[in-house]
Amino acid sequence: MCSTAGAQECSQTIEGNDQIQFNVAEIRVSASCGEVTITLRHTGQLPATAMGHNWVLTATPDFNAVAQAGASAGAPNYVPQGDARVLAASTIIGGGEETSVTFDISSLAAGGDYTYFCSFPGHYVLMNGKFIIE
Ligand code: CO
Repeated sequence: MCSTAGAQECSQTIEGNDQIQFNVAEIRVSASCGEVTITLRHTGQLPATAMGHNWVLTATPDFNAVAQAGASAGAPNYVPQGDARVLAASTIIGGGEETSVTFDISSLAAGGDYTYFCSFPGHYVLMNGKFIIE
């Protein structure tokens, strides 16, 4: 069971802007969360077709390959479908929009090496961070 503070940690918000940036370089969650909800807010003004952002999670060794597969998968979601390397993925949003993704971390490893990123073509280079389960 999560305490009040724990529940807040299990549900976290990250922002993306028109400068191709996330506002945090890492997200930490407790292994006791079970389910985690990540809410992504796009604080910019550009539309999803020009400055789309999403939140995609992979093991760090899969990060580059999945980012490239996402670009190849194309609009609107830029995520390879049915790809087991994708541990979680939100929809793509544009400026002023918000989306969230809820996923189970019980099959992920505490202390494992995970990376989140935006899979809109080219964004993963600047928009990425570490997802830490502790
Ligand atoms: Co983006």
